[in-house]
Amino acid sequence: MAQSIRDDDGTSNLSGNPHLTQLVETAIARNPARRAFLKTGLGAALLPFIGGVGACSNNDEGAIENILGFKSVPTSTADVMVVPEGYRAETLVRWGDPLLAGAPEFRGDASETSFEAELQVGDNHDGMHFFGFRNADGSEKSDSGLLVINHEYINPEYYYAPDTDAANWLLPFSAEKARKALAGHGISVVEVRRKADGSWEYVRGSAFNRRITGYTPIEITGPARGHDLLRTAADPTGAEVLGTLNNCASGWTPWGTYLTCEENFNGYFGWNGTYTPNALENRYGIAKDGFGYLWHTVDPRFDVAVNPPEPNRFGWVVEIDPSNPASKPKKRTALGRFKHENAELVVAPNGKVVVYLGCDERNEYIYKFVSAGTYNPANAAANANLLDTGTLYVGKFEAGAAAGDRMGTGSWVPLVFGSNGLDAGNGFTSQADVLIRARQAADRVGATMMDRPEWIAANPKKSGEIYIALTNNNRRGTTPASANKADGTTVAGSARPAVDDANPRADNQWGHVLRWNETGGDPTGTTFSWDIFVVAGNPKATPDRTNLRSGSANVTVENMFNSPDGLQFDSSGRLWIQTDGSFANTGNFDGQGNNQMLAADIASGEIRRFLVGPSGCEVTGVTWTADRRTMFVNIQHPGELGSHPNRPRKADGSFYGDNDIARDAARFSKFPAANDATVVGNSPRPRPCTIVVRRTDGGVVGT
Ligand code: FEO
Ligand code: CA
Ligand code: CA
Repeated sequence: MAQSIRDDDGTSNLSGNPHLTQLVETAIARNPARRAFLKTGLGAALLPFIGGVGACSNNDEGAIENILGFKSVPTSTADVMVVPEGYRAETLVRWGDPLLAGAPEFRGDASETSFEAELQVGDNHDGMHFFGFRNADGSEKSDSGLLVINHEYINPEYYYAPDTDAANWLLPFSAEKARKALAGHGISVVEVRRKADGSWEYVRGSAFNRRITGYTPIEITGPARGHDLLRTAADPTGAEVLGTLNNCASGWTPWGTYLTCEENFNGYFGWNGTYTPNALENRYGIAKDGFGYLWHTVDPRFDVAVNPPEPNRFGWVVEIDPSNPASKPKKRTALGRFKHENAELVVAPNGKVVVYLGCDERNEYIYKFVSAGTYNPANAAANANLLDTGTLYVGKFEAGAAAGDRMGTGSWVPLVFGSNGLDAGNGFTSQADVLIRARQAADRVGATMMDRPEWIAANPKKSGEIYIALTNNNRRGTTPASANKADGTTVAGSARPAVDDANPRADNQWGHVLRWNETGGDPTGTTFSWDIFVVAGNPKATPDRTNLRSGSANVTVENMFNSPDGLQFDSSGRLWIQTDGSFANTGNFDGQGNNQMLAADIASGEIRRFLVGPSGCEVTGVTWTADRRTMFVNIQHPGELGSHPNRPRKADGSFYGDNDIARDAARFSKFPAANDATVVGNSPRPRPCTIVVRRTDGGVVGT
């Protein structure tokens, strides 16, 4: 199923890659105080702490730390986690683990009912954050807390027991199956704690444990609350929606809340019979059969012909207070409606809150929200509605002084009703309308089409320096060229933009990581400069290093990867990169193996592979305890067949498809059982899960 929303890509022929020494000199020019570190390779003690808000609290602030202090691991196509020497990986929270009172044990044959599924941990873990409990002095504990985990979607081939139709295990579909799918989505709040031996466990039956699903009541807040486009027969107020869906990546706030981001919500909707989608529906990718989940065939809520406003109630950022299991989650419409990846929040020097947001689809845009109010560190309740009032901007990334050098300048254009053509003359009726139709508003102001914006990460050591993973785009630079139309009538993902400085490779198969620096280090500003930190590629398949298919100079045969997706800094400024790309291990991806996680020293540009995931997975979501001696990493969709070299074959020699693996669910991946000596026997089917990664000597991860 994930294959239908993923795109693997392709090609180009540019020269002028910077060499590592050039990257080092560029880094020194950006930050002269780092010269000694960069030239000697010594620790980060020389890093000046320029302010801004850290990605985590940091118990090691000021300590000498080796940014890449681990031995890199080789690629792998095996059904195990590969971690560096001196590290261990242990399973913590799996799909189907009993979470709430009355939950059954995971049966392993997918026979759980919808009611049972909503008492268990959801499927396909994605973004996540660890909220440590507090000591009496207010500092954060590193041995206990709440892990909040997104469940992006379900893999129907593993989620449902085969039914009676021999050709399609899903059929006949039913309302109960749709409800069970909804129960597998959303969020789990899980109390976790470290044991005396250093390993971790989750606390079954904790009063903090909670499931939020595809039918949990959620309040709609902010400017679009109550708008006609959000009103349905079931909710004539347009103020309460049932559920959150496709919870991809995440964010967190310094006032203790979690942000979950709705990405490919369109895939759940469809229609029965004949229906002609309007421009808004086309622009957000609403299609007759969706992604094949079949919900619309049994539940009129997901039939756009019957209930046209329902898709407009998804595609938002949702704020959740994990410390209060009775709290009602809130969809924050001021942050705009699109296919949200994550929500990276920083507090600007002037106290305003800035949230960086990407819209993950080919040729979509990068946004940021700047709050009207200011953060009050002394009173959490005073921040409760900060995300309801402010300005949403969209980014323009321009070539700057020279074209072709993969750096330039940019600006943030406010998406404010009545300005920049967002007015009645162009069909916009209010600020609520602009936010609900944010993609079309961004089309109108001429935002820059990017190569699939994924996670955004703010450098905790430098105010206003922001990185984004642009995962791939097989429609970049192909002919005939076309752009998203200013009148908002483009069908989602259909444009064929030309290459530009910020998206420099036609048929971009491997992706790149771009960074920008807000002018004056001020995240609330409206101008910035940008450059590209790494162009991923394959120097094994393309040894000619003047060909950008081989990647930028900081990509080597030893560290290569494709499709950067997850991106987060730890509190020492180490940039972690997670991949969700092709695991075919051949052709464009020859020698790149399973999806993986790497760490980067952003000063030197060096990137080193830290771990490799099991067969068919993506690696996504990472969070740490405050002392960073425990890292939590999510493994999503292990066992996805895709083009994996080890996927099983049938007796006639052809490869398994979903209908085959659904009936033989342990045939390909048994992860995490194969990874974990604490699991007895083989897993009866692969299970998405949260993995604890820690050093055997108890040291800080990555150093
Ligand atoms: Fe759910 Fe764009 O990754
Ligand atoms: Ca340029
Ligand atoms: Ca992602």
